Amino acid sequence: SKKAFIFDLDGVIVDTAKYHFLAWQKLAQELGIEFTPEHNEELKGVSRVRSLDIILELGGIQASQEDKNKWLIQKNEDYLSYLVDIDENEILPGVLPVLHYLKDKNQLIALGSASKNARPILEKTGIINLFDAIVDGNDVTNAKPDPEVFLQAAKKLNVTNENSIVFEDSVAGIQAANIANMTSIGIGEATTLHEAKYIFEDFTFIDVSFIESLIY
Ligand code: BG6
Ligand code: MG
Repeated sequence: SKKAFIFDLDGVIVDTAKYHFLAWQKLAQELGIEFTPEHNEELKGVSRVRSLDIILELGGIQASQEDKNKWLIQKNEDYLSYLVDIDENEILPGVLPVLHYLKDKNQLIALGSASKNARPILEKTGIINLFDAIVDGNDVTNAKPDPEVFLQAAKKLNVTNENSIVFEDSVAGIQAANIANMTSIGIGEATTLHEAKYIFEDFTFIDVSFIESLIY
């Protein structure tokens, strides 16, 4: 049968989580806020606006909307500066074989990302044509763990939630998939992603028989 395979972007398909971190860290430093990789875990899967609020809360800073808007633009410009030269090498190990296998088996593939920069990243890495539907930060009003992004993707593909499978590296994203009654697959550390139905350290640990078991 046809299933919908919905992929998160940052930290699942491409290794861009590190660039988000660098850009946020630079801003935090300018604001005199200590921001560590541990703090950064809380930002994964979270919208840009909410991420800034979390950082400002960390530093106990109350800011005007004007300042916040300025910092959001600054962070995004820094983030984009890291993306200027990216290409297919940014795709994480094991991802392309899975995408091509799903295409081969006539399965439906969607993107379900919080990022407003999703499309240019898919274009630069040369994989945008593999997607039957793209839902990103420009399409949704409610950020993960709200399931809106995944619900929109399944709807676009005309597949039920129960026949949808979500790949996610963030806790918020796993929660969103579970709330939507979709099959959640965590990509990353088992301790962090324990709410997922299945967990793999990365895509190289996912074999053909596992994917087949999801399709049939
Ligand atoms: C998510 C990332 O995919 O997108 C977050 O995990 C990021 O770190 C969010 O903040 C929003 O991305 P962007 O590109 O719109 O700032
Ligand atoms: Mg992610």
